[in-house]
Amino acid sequence: MRTIEWKEGKVFLIDQRKLPLKCEVINCSTYQEVAEAIKKMKIRGAPAIGVAAAFGMALAAYSSKAKNHEKFTHDMEEAKDCLACTRPTAVNLFWALDRIMKLITAVIKRDIELLKLKDLIFQEAKNIEQEDVEINKNMGRYGSSLIKDGDSILTHCNAGALATVDHGTALGVIRTAFEEGKKIHVYVDETRPVLQGARLTTWELMQDKIPFTLITDNMAGFLMSKNKVNLVIVGADRIALNGDVVNKIGTYSLSVLARENAVPFYVAAPLSTIDTSLKSGQGIPIEERDPKEVTHVLGKQIAPTGVKVFNPAFDLTPNRYVEAIITEKGIIKKPYEKNIKKILN
Ligand code: MRU
Repeated sequence: MRTIEWKEGKVFLIDQRKLPLKCEVINCSTYQEVAEAIKKMKIRGAPAIGVAAAFGMALAAYSSKAKNHEKFTHDMEEAKDCLACTRPTAVNLFWALDRIMKLITAVIKRDIELLKLKDLIFQEAKNIEQEDVEINKNMGRYGSSLIKDGDSILTHCNAGALATVDHGTALGVIRTAFEEGKKIHVYVDETRPVLQGARLTTWELMQDKIPFTLITDNMAGFLMSKNKVNLVIVGADRIALNGDVVNKIGTYSLSVLARENAVPFYVAAPLSTIDTSLKSGQGIPIEERDPKEVTHVLGKQIAPTGVKVFNPAFDLTPNRYVEAIITEKGIIKKPYEKNIKKILN
C-alpha cells in the first residue's frame, strides 16, 4: 500500500514508528487521531504530513454537524488549529491546511450547500495526495540528470516513499536513477535520534533492491575524505526564498563536510516546501522533541537518568552550501531568490 490512503471514509497509514520490524497499517477516523499520528511521528516527512493534514480536514468536514456556513467554517478553523499545532517546521503542513481553508472561503462565497462543500474539501485533499506522486516522479526525472552511472550517493534521514505518498523526493531521485538503469550505490546515514535512515530508508532501498550501505552519522566525513561519495542528496522541510534549507538534524554538518571535500550537495523538494514569506532561513521554527529520543534508543535507556538533553529535530543549512535545489519544475541554481521567483511564476 501507499504511505497514506483514504479508504471507506477513513485515513489509513503505515505506522512508521514500528518499521522496519513490523509493517502495521493503522487507521484514523477523526481529525484528532490524524493530529496525534503526526505528532507521534507515526506519519512523518514534510509532504506526507501535508497530505495527512489535508485528509484530516476532510474527516473534520464530514464529521461536522454544522447547519450553516458560519458554524461549519468555525468547525473547520478548529480542526485546522489542532492539525497545525502538531509539528512546527515542515511548511507543507501549513501549505496544505491553507489550501483547504482557501477553498472553503472561495466556495462559500458561491453559497454552495454544505454537503457539496464537504465533497469538494475531500476532492481537494485527494488532489493534494495525487499531485504528490506526480511531483515526485517529475523531480526524480530532473534530479536523475545529476547522477552518473557508477555514482555513490549519500543521503540523510528518510526522504523516500514513506515521507511522501509514494516514490519520494531525495530518495525518489535515487530511485529514478536506478530505474533508468544507472549502476549506483547509496550510503544511508542512520540519522540519530529517530533513526529514519537506519529504519526507513534502508527498508525502502531493500525492497527496490537498490545497493546500499548503512553508516552511522559520524562516518560520513571519513567516507567523503576517502573519495567514496560522489554526491549528497537530501530532502527539505522548509526552504526560504534565499535558498536556505531546513532539514533533519545533521544535514548542516553534512553540507559543510561536503563542501570541505568538494562533493556536490543537492536538495530535492517540491515547490510547496518553499516558504515564500521568508527571505532567509533564520525565521524557520525548529522543533525540539522529547529528551527521551536522545536518552533512549528504541525504548532502551542509554544515558544516566536525569541527564540534561538538547534535542532539535532539524537544522539550517545556509544557501552557500547548496549546489542546487531539485524541484518538480526543474533544477534551481544560484542566485536562489531570483531563480526561485522565476520558477514559481
Ligand atoms: O522528523 P521527520 O522524520 O518528519 O523529518 C523528515 C525530514 O527531515 C525529511 O528529510 C524531509 O521532511 C523531507 S521528506 C521528503
